[in-house]
Amino acid sequence: MKAFVLRSYGSPDLLELTDLDEPVPGDDEVLVRVGATSVNPYDWHQMRGQPYVARLMPGGLGLRGPKLSILGCDVAGRVEAAGRNVTGFATGDEVFALLPQGGFAEYVSVPPSLLAPKPKNLSYEQAAAVPMAAITALLGVRDQGRLQPGQTVLVNGASGGVGTFAVQIARALGAEVTAVCSAANAELARAVGAGEVIDYTTTDFTRHEQRYDLLLDIAGRAHPAGAQTQGNLRRPGRSRRPVAAARRAYVRGARAGTAGLPAHGHDRHRRVHAQERQPGDPDRAHRGRQGNPGHRPELPLR
Ligand SMILES: NC(=O)c1ccc[n+]([C@@H]2O[C@H](COP(=O)([O-])OP(=O)(O)OC[C@H]3O[C@@H](n4cnc5c(N)ncnc54)[C@H](OP(=O)(O)O)[C@@H]3O)[C@@H](O)[C@H]2O)c1
Repeated sequence: MKAFVLRSYGSPDLLELTDLDEPVPGDDEVLVRVGATSVNPYDWHQMRGQPYVARLMPGGLGLRGPKLSILGCDVAGRVEAAGRNVTGFATGDEVFALLPQGGFAEYVSVPPSLLAPKPKNLSYEQAAAVPMAAITALLGVRDQGRLQPGQTVLVNGASGGVGTFAVQIARALGAEVTAVCSAANAELARAVGAGEVIDYTTTDFTRHEQRYDLLLDIAGRAHPAGAQTQGNLRRPGRSRRPVAAARRAYVRGARAGTAGLPAHGHDRHRRVHAQERQPGDPDRAHRGRQGNPGHRPELPLR
């Protein structure tokens, strides 16, 4: 089969289109012929070997070279063969999946637990654009944010890969959504469900009086993680515990545990920094990264 193989850290030019043996599925695996894959920031980190500090972390990137030789986590395709212990999937089924690696190839062999049937109304290309960004949004909004019907949420970075899913999921959960993105994407944000849109190029939402039940900071621009000191928390030990989700989120009343997250949910590339606050806690000051560097906005949570 053809596959893009990565042998050393660097630019996309180093991805080498190579002939490899087709994987042979084990008894508990499914062989998928890849119809489409998509590229995520995760692949970029793996390819570049950046941030450098991740090379030193246990379970992180490889120290001297890439740990993954075939990148690609999001795939959609067709089941080519199923191992003899596999139930639920058969040759010819159309599937999509979030994988640890291997999508930039013609075939990939995967455990069936990672597969889901591809909705018939989605093309392979459309289905392959969903898994990582959508699961990231789901973890941030539902699992960490615990957004409830009737609550309000501000999504910073609402028009991007993760943000457009976050807005839709929040709406599906019955919440009111305020989107932050550029004016050029305001209509997109509204089309996926935002009731209000704030243009970050002209307006700093951290200076608004408005308070929200949940703030999902996908863009990671407004409230640098760590700006909130442990001393500001009533239960410091449970703050900023890294769990899988969007890059940064500040969550009121979120449970900071990881129970219920999928096994790959501890992936370092998809972290959320959930900060717990008790009802009645005063808002805490944060240093804004954009605009006046001396400005220390209040966190606009209710
Ligand atoms: N995509 C994934 O699967 C995934 C998974 C895990 C983690 N992440 C992480 O999540 C973050 C976002 O990823 P993404 O794929 O959603 O990125 P993206 O598609 O590039 O979207 C970025 C979003 O941020 C907005 N934005 C840019 N500058 C901003 C600012 N100064 N203030 C507020 N909003 C701003 C953009 O708005 P405009 O486009 O309108 O300017 C856009 O809505 C990245 O750090 C990424 O590493 C992504």
